[in-house]
Amino acid sequence: MLTKLWPLTRLATSKLHWNQQLLTTMSTTTKSAHDTAVNSFNLNHSSYDIYRPSFSPILVNPFLVDLNLATFNKQDNTFTFDNDKRIVEIACGTGKFTKNLVDNGWSSNLSAVDPSRGMLETFRENFPQVDSVVQASSYNTPFDDDSIDAVIVAQGFHWFADEESLKEIHRILKPSGKLGLIWNFDYTSPSQDSVVSDSNYYNSGTRYYNDLDLTSSKNNQELLSQFFGNQKWNDKVTKYVYDFDVKVPQYRHGKWRSILLANPYFKNEVLDSFALYDKLIDKDDVWKYWETRSYITDLPQEKKDEIKGHIEEIIAKDTNEDSFDKDTQRLIKPMGTHTVVVSVRK
Ligand SMILES: C[S@@+](CC[C@H](N)C(=O)[O-])C[C@H]1O[C@@H](n2cnc3c(N)ncnc32)[C@H](O)[C@@H]1O
Repeated sequence: MLTKLWPLTRLATSKLHWNQQLLTTMSTTTKSAHDTAVNSFNLNHSSYDIYRPSFSPILVNPFLVDLNLATFNKQDNTFTFDNDKRIVEIACGTGKFTKNLVDNGWSSNLSAVDPSRGMLETFRENFPQVDSVVQASSYNTPFDDDSIDAVIVAQGFHWFADEESLKEIHRILKPSGKLGLIWNFDYTSPSQDSVVSDSNYYNSGTRYYNDLDLTSSKNNQELLSQFFGNQKWNDKVTKYVYDFDVKVPQYRHGKWRSILLANPYFKNEVLDSFALYDKLIDKDDVWKYWETRSYITDLPQEKKDEIKGHIEEIIAKDTNEDSFDKDTQRLIKPMGTHTVVVSVRK
């Protein structure tokens, strides 16, 4: 059945090699994925898989509803997933988000796309049940016009937030199709520059949730500054590491939002939702967590050692008993998850 529905995908994912010639016939753009993205993720895919956070169903399930891929059953507070809907996950990486889809029953109507050979190597080990795995970029995908119900990008759209990618995603989506973006984030930024109702906020496991004033309609950046202000050590480490990200596109720069609000391919109504949680992290893993950022992976070893040392100093100086979870004695790192849904303009 899959061969009938997605003949090109089957061809492109033949066990041997991605068929470059085939893909270039599908789109007119010559743009390719950012070098830093492909190179760094080729190198760090194993530690990426271990240290980067996963995505909580508390926000993912409503996100799938917003994408018309699931329905919420009020009577028993459950979700029903429509596995007949065809999903393309672009920038799948090692499959951190794919796990949510597979856990909810998708495999044959799911296709995973990424330009990084290394990421796909770990992806294939993690998800042998997903047949359709394509080494390709957002600029050239092997899917038919108007054939896909939803395109999802987790932790990746900032790498290709441009009109060429949106044009390609627009091409493959059905007229009823939607694009869904999801990011875990460490700090407040222009990316959260909007006002949403309290029903678009979810507690996915933070002790600070009840302290937030969600009822007055504040800009999300203001609300989130209050949330992140709860842990000084994390505030300092995050700002320090961010200073190294001068060269590469990042979620927090917010360029993706400006593109989504003004492009000819998607309606400019952007649906934002947020979930907040406390990641509990061993002191020694804080450096490992940040090391998987592409702009850190790319630095010479000497510089990395210096950054590691400085992070350790901050943790030694700016923590107290409130910085640690009482049960596990791990550091409390406030974190957020952000989902964004837009509808195709066709
Ligand atoms: C931070 S990782 C996210 C991986 C995964 N989705 C996750 O949530 O962990 C970003 C991914 O974007 C991919 N990427 C970068 N540029 C891309 C492009 N133009 N098209 C598709 N994927 C791209 C990288 O290869 C990398 O796997």
